[in-house]
Amino acid sequence: MKDQAEGLREKMRRSQTKTGPRTIVVTSGKGGVGKSNVALNFALSLVERGKPALLFDLDVGFANIDILIGYSPRKTFVDMIEQQLPLNQVIERGPYGLELISGGSGLGKLFHVDQEKLHHVLLQLDTLASRVDYIVLDTGAGLSHESLSLMLAADDVLVVTTPEPTSLTDAYGVIKVLCKYNRESHLHLIVNRCTKPWEGLQTARRLQAVAQQFLDKEFNYLGYLPHDSAVQKAVLNQQPFIKMFPASKAAQAMKVITAQYLGQQFEQQPVEKEGRLRSFFKQLIAPFRQKETG
Ligand SMILES: Nc1ncnc2c1ncn2[C@@H]1O[C@H](COP(=O)(O)OP(=O)(O)OP(=O)(O)O)[C@@H](O)[C@H]1O
Ligand SMILES: [Mg+2]
Repeated sequence: MKDQAEGLREKMRRSQTKTGPRTIVVTSGKGGVGKSNVALNFALSLVERGKPALLFDLDVGFANIDILIGYSPRKTFVDMIEQQLPLNQVIERGPYGLELISGGSGLGKLFHVDQEKLHHVLLQLDTLASRVDYIVLDTGAGLSHESLSLMLAADDVLVVTTPEPTSLTDAYGVIKVLCKYNRESHLHLIVNRCTKPWEGLQTARRLQAVAQQFLDKEFNYLGYLPHDSAVQKAVLNQQPFIKMFPASKAAQAMKVITAQYLGQQFEQQPVEKEGRLRSFFKQLIAPFRQKETG
């Protein structure tokens, strides 16, 4: 017999497939804290748990994910917009059942599409809506208009930090700006590169205390990843660490993080007639369109 929590989760899943996939933006204040590794392994971990997920590489210019798993995309999302290609030409079948889209260079174009291209993008996104349950978006560090817009449009914002004070201060900076524009954002935290098991919780508590005091904002602490040479070895071998070293501490910790994320009950969003992905994209480009037409 299913327990109540399981029943709720199934209800949540059904509502998701009806309205489209949940979008999760992985971000950080400081660079190099492990965003791309988290995004890749978290997305794969969702797939492992039977949740179809797509990884969208939006780290403009650096092609992070490409390097992490040693693939070179034939076509990018920017190509799709520019050349009006069907989406299935830009979705790559990555390793271990993971689907991938590379943003491509000149991603600023994404935010400045004209009416005809917008129509094309929205139609293509519709084909994606029924295909996956989650879209994990890897971004560059820090705050630009584009990355802020991305965070505001997404269902979930996953902030990655390390226990270092510099990383933590920068993470707080991102949360502060985000809260300024949307107090309702679903914020999640992962503390990466912990040298002691308790360091993650300690770091999360520190950040939560400041966020509570100055922003009156709570976030979900999803868990920590240990500093683990398995991650570095996997990067060198261009493999995801959860697949190359499934018994490693980092891989085990990623499982806990994924379970924690999936175990959460998100409040039911009103069912949008046009679907979650369409409204994500429209919301994403809205500030830029207002600027252009205003
Ligand atoms: N848990 C970990 N244990 C050991 N090393 C790690 C861990 N996480 C990340 N690293 C190291 O840090 C490097 C940078 O990680 P990653 O590329 O994921 O960071 P990033 O935040 O995406 O960087 P950028 O801001 O440049 O996009 C990795 O190549 C790896 O060597
Ligand atoms: Mg990166």
